[in-house]
Amino acid sequence: MNPGTDRQVQLLCRSAELAEGGRAWVWDVLEYGRPARAFALRFAGVLRAYLNRCAHVPAEMDWQPGEFLDNDRRWIVCSIHGASYEPADGRCVGGPCRRGRLTALAVDEADGQVYWYPSRDIQPVAFDTPAAESLR
Ligand code: FES
Repeated sequence: MNPGTDRQVQLLCRSAELAEGGRAWVWDVLEYGRPARAFALRFAGVLRAYLNRCAHVPAEMDWQPGEFLDNDRRWIVCSIHGASYEPADGRCVGGPCRRGRLTALAVDEADGQVYWYPSRDIQPVAFDTPAAESLR
């Protein structure tokens, strides 16, 4: 991916803000036009990003803002009922998420910056677009 040639690409944060096994970067997105949140973290040296939505019940998972990993910094753990996910691919590895998996988002980094590549279904929030109610 090359952020210089993709008009849709979104700058998220500086690479240095995502330490190995550290706090995630959380941001707002629109999934099929509805508000949702996503998060990006660094695990095993690689950036990963997912919708912040558990496969058990569609709830946000962080136990503190941006905190998704367990005490050993090995698994993504849902704060609601303890479902555990593999950070490398988002698949459920334990708890009530069964065979579910997190919804992955495409992220990359270049020149010390982290970028998100929106998909057809998961788009950026258009902060400069007036809300429909304000146009009446
Ligand atoms: S909502 Fe995540 S484990 Fe139940």
